Amino acid sequence: MISVGIVGGTGYTGVELLRILTMHPNAEIKVVTSRSEAGKKVASLYPSLSPSLDTIFTSPDVAVLKECDCVFFAAPNGTAMQMVPELLKAGVKIIDLAADFRIKNSATWEHWYKQAHACPDVLQTAIYGLPELHREEIKNAQLVANPGCYPTAVILGFLPLLEAGIAKDTQLIADTKSGVSGAGRAANVPTLFSEAGENFKAYNVNAHRHWPEIKQELEIIATHDVSFVFTPHLVPMVRGIFATLYVNNAEISMDLASLYKERYENESFVQVLEEGVLPETKHVRASNQCMLSVSRPYSGETVVVLSVIDNLVKGAAGQAIQNMNLMFGIEEATGLLQPGLFP
Ligand SMILES: NC(=O)c1ccc[n+]([C@@H]2O[C@H](COP(=O)([O-])OP(=O)(O)OC[C@H]3O[C@@H](n4cnc5c(N)ncnc54)[C@H](OP(=O)(O)O)[C@@H]3O)[C@@H](O)[C@H]2O)c1
Repeated sequence: MISVGIVGGTGYTGVELLRILTMHPNAEIKVVTSRSEAGKKVASLYPSLSPSLDTIFTSPDVAVLKECDCVFFAAPNGTAMQMVPELLKAGVKIIDLAADFRIKNSATWEHWYKQAHACPDVLQTAIYGLPELHREEIKNAQLVANPGCYPTAVILGFLPLLEAGIAKDTQLIADTKSGVSGAGRAANVPTLFSEAGENFKAYNVNAHRHWPEIKQELEIIATHDVSFVFTPHLVPMVRGIFATLYVNNAEISMDLASLYKERYENESFVQVLEEGVLPETKHVRASNQCMLSVSRPYSGETVVVLSVIDNLVKGAAGQAIQNMNLMFGIEEATGLLQPGLFP
């Protein structure tokens, strides 16, 4: 059994980790932290978990977390980096759902996250946890930087085209929409029901923190600089990311459907839909799937890829558990094959 600790067990990704891990045959939940709810039963805050969980929230304490085999950080940016060096020394495997270890260059990270990095030396040892791209490195990693939700949907959508080769001046555009749970559980005015309901708006158009993360990985795949524009929107739904991706002046002569199908044919968590079938966020709700469609409208030069995920599952907790499975040498899909909820 893998004994698991979760830092940030009251938040949306924390409770999603708990939901999936309580059904995981190889994991045992040992520590769940919350500063605000310490001393309370997890099941008293989340009765949906009660039949299988009698854990009590405790305050985060490295000495206690060191006793776990695997620690997930489901806490705000800047939390994990304070505890990771000591946990690494103790031999604990770590998966950070926040952004502390996603960007390799510490100056770039500090620019975007507006704080000094607590352990820049560790950045180079962290593996970016997108299994479809870095599977072999994840298997040997002690520290995994779980990708952001938008980056997961966007990178998986562009990946086959970039691997096939694009010219340096090819323009990549990601028009993305997220449900409000992407912003976490803390009270905040833009996600109030009366502000987000019956509304549709763009945000951080000139500077979203996922832009450098996505660009870093797209450039690793393309093996050269890429021109990348990213426009996020908030839509009035709870879960889901919908990314509409455009590759302009693609000049791709190959059969796109075959390219995508062949790239993902051995992946348990990426489905390329048949021609004429378009993905919807409801198709992946509560599942670890990314669903994709690819087309070239009007036989023109622009390729359009549609990519959907559940931000809390393939975009966070599910992908983190997929990474845990790889890091501990168990079947990658263990505990993650539940189909989506519909309707
Ligand atoms: N929501 C998503 O769709 C999504 C997707 C991908 C990645 N992420 C990332 O995952 C992380 C968690 O997101 P979330 O949406 O679950 O956030 P959230 O709902 O706001 O929950 C944050 C959790 O962290 C705990 N916490 C806050 N400050 C802490 C600190 N200084 N030390 C230890 N624990 C602390 C909170 O509990 P206490 O305050 O009681 O300790 C709470 O349990 C974030 O970094 C986020 O960017 C989120």
